[in-house]
Amino acid sequence: MTETRHEPFSFDAFDEARSPRAEETDFDRIVARGLSRRGFLSGLVAFGSGAAVMGTLLRSTAAEAATANARFAFAPLPVATDGTVHVPEGYEWKPLARWGDALFSDAPGFDAAKGVPAQGSDRVFGENTDGVELFNIRGRQVIAVNHEYVNPEINLPKEQEEKVKSEADVRLLQNLQGVTVMEVAEAPEGWAIVKDSPFNRRIHHNTPMRLTGPAAGHELLRTPADPTGTEVLGTLNNCGAGKTPWGTYLTCEENFNGYFGSTNLEIALPETFARYGIEAESVYGYEQFDPRFDLAKNVNEPNRFGYVVEIDPANPESTPVKRTALGRFKHENAAVTLARDGRVVVYLGDDERGEFLYKFVSTDSYEAGGDTATLLDKGQLHVAKFAEDGTGSWMALTPEATGMTAAEICIHTRQAASKLGATTMDRPEWVAVNPRAIEAYCALTNNKNRGKKPNAGGDETPVGGPNPRAENHYGQIVRWYPADEDHGADSFKWDLFVMAGNPEAHQDAYAGSSNINAGNMFNSPDGMMFDSNGMLWIQTDGEDSNEGDFAGQGNNQMLVGDPASGRIERFLTAPKGAEVTGLTWSSDRRTVFVGIQHPGGDFPDMAGGLPRSTLIAIRRTDGAVFG
Ligand code: FEO
Ligand code: CA
Ligand code: CA
Ligand code: CA
Repeated sequence: MTETRHEPFSFDAFDEARSPRAEETDFDRIVARGLSRRGFLSGLVAFGSGAAVMGTLLRSTAAEAATANARFAFAPLPVATDGTVHVPEGYEWKPLARWGDALFSDAPGFDAAKGVPAQGSDRVFGENTDGVELFNIRGRQVIAVNHEYVNPEINLPKEQEEKVKSEADVRLLQNLQGVTVMEVAEAPEGWAIVKDSPFNRRIHHNTPMRLTGPAAGHELLRTPADPTGTEVLGTLNNCGAGKTPWGTYLTCEENFNGYFGSTNLEIALPETFARYGIEAESVYGYEQFDPRFDLAKNVNEPNRFGYVVEIDPANPESTPVKRTALGRFKHENAAVTLARDGRVVVYLGDDERGEFLYKFVSTDSYEAGGDTATLLDKGQLHVAKFAEDGTGSWMALTPEATGMTAAEICIHTRQAASKLGATTMDRPEWVAVNPRAIEAYCALTNNKNRGKKPNAGGDETPVGGPNPRAENHYGQIVRWYPADEDHGADSFKWDLFVMAGNPEAHQDAYAGSSNINAGNMFNSPDGMMFDSNGMLWIQTDGEDSNEGDFAGQGNNQMLVGDPASGRIERFLTAPKGAEVTGLTWSSDRRTVFVGIQHPGGDFPDMAGGLPRSTLIAIRRTDGAVFG
């Protein structure tokens, strides 16, 4: 570990701090070109040779504006800098599940000063809630939710200074990550976990899973414990999520690299590891007590992570399945929709500076009630290339195009995409598909290296297209419209829905697009989900110093955006230190569940105890439907 964390801190930021990319200075030319473009970008009309930044704003008339106002059923919030959650007047929030809350009656109690004991730590709600989906299973409401990572400083005894000292420490950390599946129920006083429900289940770093798809069984996936390369233990760094039309949960493995280390620091690692940031030093030190994570003993183990994992929340006995056909990278979320002919389309972001945006299209079509067992095993993975003129294409990652086998493409997906010259992006986080229009959105959270440094594969990161600002500290949301109004199409048109920025601090492109103002500004869009009305809910994971470039932006937040008008308003503010990530609605859409990850202070208990990552439930006080 090269950095010591004193405050809970986003795992993305931690991964970057631990592995800064090589300094690169010969991109000045590209930065200069970016600067010369700012004049275009600060206006809202066209830039480059035609793609519009929020072009639809130009069309709004008074009648359209009135309709737009009706789509915001709340009074927008001011920024906050305090230690709790705020929601608009007429709404209320309560914790549903906090780090350490019992899922079963035999679970250990949570200690406000010490957290969760090792014994029974697989019987409680894990730490750092992230992607989440709700399933209505025969009338019962079952939530599946990710636990992306743990903060060792609050999970391990203080005197250990964030270091694991025993196998029990490692098991504790492993148990508190992964996924929780839990039944929830609403009572007049609020929502609660249904303790001991048959649906309740913890999936963690040692849960048996299967590997399927083109890479399953490949020699790079074989280990001493699994010579078949098809059976793996655990899922790592579960970030965003997705939900299939057949009622399964997709959990996405993001910064899996940081879990592996070597007891021999001089070890020569495979060349392919560098692209994924796999190094001899790990984040948590698992390798000292769990040989599976020791690269000196199990060099192929990291090749078995970085996938999308399918979980059946209706069957607690089911084995989760790693779907290698969806590629191996730092998966953010998995936004599932259907092509016109019923093929399954999954949009996938790879959250790292200068990495890519992907789309999987199944070979077979989905039919309600049909066999779905191999829909996510057979199909074609594509990677996005954006042109300056507002068009783009999905390039198929085939053996012919890449010179790699189908299995290799699914294991070294980043390298395959580089071969096709895909567009290096400003950290693709969540993709959201509009249920009311044939269009999809991706949050490009920020990229301080844009125009400065290549990605880890040496691909340049020029300023332009959907990544129009050098040293992008604020982020933007790109939107695309598939050709022929078909998510299965190979081409699309695109524009930017919003460029975040600070109009109080900047007059150039860093002010943001024209739908950003002093009253709604934010930075680092990350989680995103559409509600049933086609409104886009945007969550942030950014800089909450409220100073300098970020003055006036306060704590992280959740906003609601209207695709039709471009209007964006703030719905929620998070406690200092936290990011807002993951949201889903109750079956009756009277409640939205929202994840508060890595809060600071003593959230949510306000009793001087440890800060607890929490899934909260937000309702209208009049009980009306929203979202
Ligand atoms: Fe886990 Fe990219 O956020
Ligand atoms: Ca995070
Ligand atoms: Ca995220
Ligand atoms: Ca993020």
